[in-house]
Amino acid sequence: MLHKRYLLPLLAACSAAVEISVASSGGNATSNLQYGIMEEEINYCGDGGLYAELIRNRAFQGGSSYPSNLDAWIPVDGSALSLQNLSKPLSSALPTSVNVKGSGKAGLTNLGWWGIDVREQKYTGSFYVKGTYNGTFTASLQANETGEVFASTEVVSKSVRGAWTQHEFTLTPSKAASNTKNTFSITFDASETVDGSLDFNLISLFPPTWNDRPNGLRKDLMQAMADFAPKFLRFPGGNNLEGDTLAGRWKWNETIGPLKDRPGRATTWTYQETTGLGLVEYMEWCDDLGVEPILGIWAGFALNGDAIPESELGPYVQDVLDELEFLTGSTDTDLGALRASLGHPEPWTIKYVEVGNEDNLNEGLESYTSYRFRVFHDAIKEKYPDIIILASTVELTFPEGAGGDYHLYDTPDNFVSKFNYFDQFSPDHPILLGEIAAIQLNGREIVWGGDAHFSMYPWWIGTVAEAVFLLGAERNADKVLGTTYAPFFMNLANYQWSPTFLAFNADPDQTARSTSWHLYSLFSHNSFTNTLPTTSNDTWGPLYYVAGVDSATDSHIFKAAVYNSTADVPVSLTFDGVKSGTTAQLTVLTADDALGMNEVGASDIVASQTSTVTAGANGVFDFSLPNLSVAVLKTVA
Ligand SMILES: *[C@@H]1O[C@H](CO)[C@@H](O)[C@H](O)[C@H]1NC(C)=O
Ligand SMILES: *[C@@H]1O[C@H](CO)[C@@H](O)[C@H](O)[C@H]1NC(C)=O
Ligand SMILES: *[C@@H]1O[C@H](CO)[C@@H](O)[C@H](O)[C@H]1NC(C)=O
Ligand SMILES: *[C@@H]1O[C@H](CO)[C@@H](O)[C@H](O)[C@H]1NC(C)=O
Ligand SMILES: *[C@@H]1O[C@H](CO)[C@@H](O)[C@H](O)[C@H]1NC(C)=O
Ligand SMILES: *[C@@H]1O[C@H](CO)[C@@H](O)[C@H](O)[C@H]1NC(C)=O
Ligand SMILES: *[C@@H]1O[C@H](CO)[C@@H](O)[C@H](O)[C@H]1NC(C)=O
Ligand SMILES: *[C@@H]1O[C@H](CO)[C@@H](O)[C@H](O)[C@H]1NC(C)=O
Repeated sequence: MLHKRYLLPLLAACSAAVEISVASSGGNATSNLQYGIMEEEINYCGDGGLYAELIRNRAFQGGSSYPSNLDAWIPVDGSALSLQNLSKPLSSALPTSVNVKGSGKAGLTNLGWWGIDVREQKYTGSFYVKGTYNGTFTASLQANETGEVFASTEVVSKSVRGAWTQHEFTLTPSKAASNTKNTFSITFDASETVDGSLDFNLISLFPPTWNDRPNGLRKDLMQAMADFAPKFLRFPGGNNLEGDTLAGRWKWNETIGPLKDRPGRATTWTYQETTGLGLVEYMEWCDDLGVEPILGIWAGFALNGDAIPESELGPYVQDVLDELEFLTGSTDTDLGALRASLGHPEPWTIKYVEVGNEDNLNEGLESYTSYRFRVFHDAIKEKYPDIIILASTVELTFPEGAGGDYHLYDTPDNFVSKFNYFDQFSPDHPILLGEIAAIQLNGREIVWGGDAHFSMYPWWIGTVAEAVFLLGAERNADKVLGTTYAPFFMNLANYQWSPTFLAFNADPDQTARSTSWHLYSLFSHNSFTNTLPTTSNDTWGPLYYVAGVDSATDSHIFKAAVYNSTADVPVSLTFDGVKSGTTAQLTVLTADDALGMNEVGASDIVASQTSTVTAGANGVFDFSLPNLSVAVLKTVA
């Protein structure tokens, strides 16, 4: 197998090695935000994915773009389900409820987010009901096809005429289902009601969540993030932050508080979102992974090209200042007190704010550079001078201390050709690589819109090309703040965009950590605090690399990728001051198939091999890297 070859002893005579000498001083301090996560409500990745809610369409939320409907709900035993806007709704945010009418056993069944994962663990559920009923409800999880019941519980009704009453329950299956073709039902005895019917709304069911948070996040996906050692979270998008129209923008204040007070909204990705994963949940996500929030704020522009005129920006700027007070204000402030009332008395710290998203697109650049960026920038800086403001593009003249966000979706070859891209930038203005992904095969055109036909998943040669680009970014890590793949997640059952960093379905055991996940994990686990200058007797390519030192462990680190080589590349590496006999761990990632992908439910195609390399005479580390490999060598202090 190709990926084992580098372990063979090298024959000095036949090696035309690339000689690399790493100096002991003279580099640059690096940002500590390599690498991160990008959040965007797309691909049913929040709703239907990371947000652990198992019930789809739990509150019949809709609007003019996506009218409320009965998707994912089917009647039990011939019951009639009808959507109604009652004169007394559950809340103004959730005006539409379902009336369930039957005779005898009546009820409704939810199909989940294209299946429900049932295993021996505690599920926590609740629902609101309105109408006179003195009997009991039955909540259950069962196999869709066979009807086998995995868990069932009786919930004594507290329901009364003319009011909404919340009922809570737990379900603990005594055995796991063999697949995710399972459903959730609530039934009741219609003959014990006044007219054979009851009204239901906000029907919810959660499995155990990461860190046991109520309204929390799916464990396998949080684990997949935690395992690659992320350093930041950019949220809440993306196009989804901007909205299709000015009115459709993401509004922080409508994503907080009790679920019954969150109206949800039309995403920019063809579906309605619940906003159950809202601002507070994003911050808890940061807390739970120990990552730095990079807060995206709405910048007066929507995807249809509409911009708020400068004279009318005031309320939107105030809205951002309010959001920052909500997040960071002391509990003496109104909004800080509101945050405390939601369970977070400790203020959060926001160090980075990004103004808008991709304002260089959709003809947004002119209003962005002429006033929108400046107005938001100045107002935030005035009240919060320590916050670093990032523009959503690099196509502008930055005010002092501000930086920008650079996005790249391209072919592998074009990623490699941008290895030197950041050499031209100034260290005075930090650059976030807020969306990075190889998406299309070499030799194919990238066509945007409609039928994009990008790669289904990250694939190995694309990942290696991303590695070359990231090495270029790390060489400039005094300028490049951090990098994240985007989009991050995809629910295979219903998605609008591929490829993504992680892909999944209803079965947590089938989650796919992509080939690029392996790259980010290797590089992020081997971060250094300072780059070190290198000299070589060869040019860049097919070997690309960066070197540095980690002051915490005093380790010297060399990161490399080989792209487009006709043979293995022998390397003779020295670090100034590192003596012969010093040992290093060499980790090499390879894959047998350049076009191979890590697919949902399939085995991992990335081979990771770690070996020990000892510095020989004159402190030289000799090793060889195969074509299409990514490697890290780290000295053991
Ligand atoms: C670099 O030096 C090595 C060892 O002397 C030699 O094998 C190799 O050919 C040199 N490479 C170049 C491009 O000169
Ligand atoms: C409920 O009200 C919304 C908003 O006015 C409307 O779009 C929807 O059609 C109504 N639904 C029903 C079932 O009446
Ligand atoms: C339900 O219970 C209440 C209180 O016990 C009682 O007053 C009422 O008549 C009962 N309603 C029905 C329909 O049984
Ligand atoms: C369950 O059954 C319903 C109705 O037969 C069907 O529409 C749905 O796709 C099935 N769902 C799953 C997860 O098997
Ligand atoms: C949220 O804030 C916006 C102003 O940005 C306001 O128009 C809207 O009514 C607020 N929503 C709620 C539920 O208070
Ligand atoms: C890959 O190698 C081929 C053949 O040598 C060359 O034509 C092509 O430009 C190379 N691509 C890159 C990105 O280096
Ligand atoms: C350090 O940064 C300066 C200015 O950005 C740059 O010229 C130099 O090449 C960098 N050194 C290294 C080792 O990356
Ligand atoms: C190296 O990888 C490139 C890209 O997949 C491929 O074209 C080339 O044939 C490979 N070279 C060898 C020797 O395997």
